[in-house]
Amino acid sequence: MLCTWKTSDLQLLLILTVFLVAVNSSQPVRVDTKIVLSCHPIPTSVLVTWEIILRDKPLCTKAYRSDNNVTKEVNCTDKRITWAFRPDQNSSLLIDPVAITHDGYYRCLKATPDGNFHRGYNLQVLVAPEVTLFRSNNGTAVCKAVAGKPAARISWIPEGYCVPKQEIWGNGTVTVWSTCHWADSNVSTVSCSVSHPTGIRNLTIELSQG
Ligand SMILES: *[C@@H]1O[C@H](CO)[C@@H](O)[C@H](O)[C@H]1NC(C)=O
Ligand SMILES: *[C@@H]1O[C@H](CO)[C@@H](O)[C@H](O)[C@H]1NC(C)=O
Ligand SMILES: *[C@@H]1O[C@H](CO)[C@@H](O)[C@H](O)[C@H]1NC(C)=O
Ligand SMILES: *[C@@H]1O[C@H](CO)[C@@H](O)[C@H](O)[C@H]1NC(C)=O
Ligand SMILES: *[C@@H]1O[C@H](CO)[C@@H](O)[C@H](O)[C@H]1NC(C)=O
Ligand SMILES: *[C@@H]1O[C@H](CO)[C@@H](O)[C@H](O)[C@H]1NC(C)=O
Ligand SMILES: *[C@@H]1O[C@H](CO)[C@@H](O)[C@H](O)[C@H]1NC(C)=O
Repeated sequence: MLCTWKTSDLQLLLILTVFLVAVNSSQPVRVDTKIVLSCHPIPTSVLVTWEIILRDKPLCTKAYRSDNNVTKEVNCTDKRITWAFRPDQNSSLLIDPVAITHDGYYRCLKATPDGNFHRGYNLQVLVAPEVTLFRSNNGTAVCKAVAGKPAARISWIPEGYCVPKQEIWGNGTVTVWSTCHWADSNVSTVSCSVSHPTGIRNLTIELSQG
């Protein structure tokens, strides 16, 4: 005997409540891992609603009503986004595995007799770049960070005369590279340092003496 939900029920619940507590945070997460997003910890909710806003997708809503113990979903097609536990016990959301398309805004709304409690997450999916350092024929060195998200930053020790380039891919990743030469012929070893939210990588190479 599942009751059908009327939009008016939802609206009533939302309008009746007087105050609202909202918390938003930025949430970085690495691709191919999993993440649990939790709602506001207030325990006595009547209605828990997750709104998932992803680029180029319709708004997906997952809801759980505790008075009749019923869950409902609208516009949700991604099987990797689920309730983390039984929603009558814990209202957290699970994304497993995290894909690059999961970049977006995730908001949990708990409607309780004491008010509405929001918690929002700006999920930023991170992809570690493939990092390489090599010499090219004319004595230049090239440091390359392939398909990182966001774009990596490249710096050199010692500093050289460098030309930075980048290429943006359709999936939101960016390849950056820096091609350098050193006027000082005493420079025999150079290091490039690639900084990225997933970590710093340092690579060193011998420059062939001309
Ligand atoms: C379902 O998707 C449509 C189209 O984007 C949107 O207008 C609507 O609000 C969505 N419904 C819910 C309950 O998320
Ligand atoms: C809610 O329903 C599920 C199955 O649909 C059941 O296992 C669970 O015990 C119910 N929880 C409550 C609090 O009634
Ligand atoms: C639900 O699960 C999350 C993640 O494990 C945890 O942080 C949170 O405290 C739990 N909430 C409740 C009400 O048990
Ligand atoms: C080395 O060759 C690259 C292209 O292969 C060029 O962009 C760069 O300017 C050259 N550097 C020097 C020092 O001649
Ligand atoms: C993104 O696209 C680039 C270029 O096609 C590809 O090399 C890379 O593996 C892709 N990354 C992800 C995480 O899909
Ligand atoms: C290069 O090395 C030579 C001898 O090792 C030294 O005399 C000279 O000052 C060095 N040049 C620079 C620019 O450091
Ligand atoms: C990489 O090099 C930078 C700059 O020299 C240094 O600050 C950092 O500690 C190094 N990191 C690692 C992991 O070696």
